[in-house]
Amino acid sequence: MDRLDEIRQKCLVCRECPLCRYRTNVVFGVGDPESELMFIGEGPGENEDKQGEPFVGAAGRLLDDMLEMIDLDRSRVYIANVVKCRPPRNRDPLGEEQSACRHWLNSQLEIIRPKLIVCLGRIAAAAVIKSDFKITREHGLWFDIDGARAMAMYHPAALLRDESKRPETFVDLRALRAEAKRVCEHLY
Ligand code: URA
Repeated sequence: MDRLDEIRQKCLVCRECPLCRYRTNVVFGVGDPESELMFIGEGPGENEDKQGEPFVGAAGRLLDDMLEMIDLDRSRVYIANVVKCRPPRNRDPLGEEQSACRHWLNSQLEIIRPKLIVCLGRIAAAAVIKSDFKITREHGLWFDIDGARAMAMYHPAALLRDESKRPETFVDLRALRAEAKRVCEHLY
């Protein structure tokens, strides 16, 4: 078993925070562990909790479309969340839940070592890039974090709620493709 699988097996039985009481499945992450590009969302929703896979509901279908726009698909990237268990009624994960869960994401980042990280939405950007991240002002900007380049985009669920944000996301996707062509050896 490789290291990521080992961590995954441990994560699947995690009871380190109260979110474990409500979950159907732990949602660890999917995709290519060798990928140079990792997407990080906030936490599982209802469909993800049922299926044990990130971004499989309506927001996930939009994420698939976003990937297709830049000639990628989910088999070529890695997708994970800040918290691995669904918060009740899809509320934002609490600070203490994020802290308790953080070592799983840190292990994923250490093992996968992506060159590029895309945070989907404010919660992921605040957890990964900087705690006072302002998604409306700072989406699409690149930040250097621990040897990787990271940016945030609007969360696909926000794009479903507010279509007026889509043109900005299109610009961010083009910036992502340009940066991936610049720094990644295996994506394009
Ligand atoms: N929203 C997220 O942030 N992550 C998922 O996996 C699904 C919806």
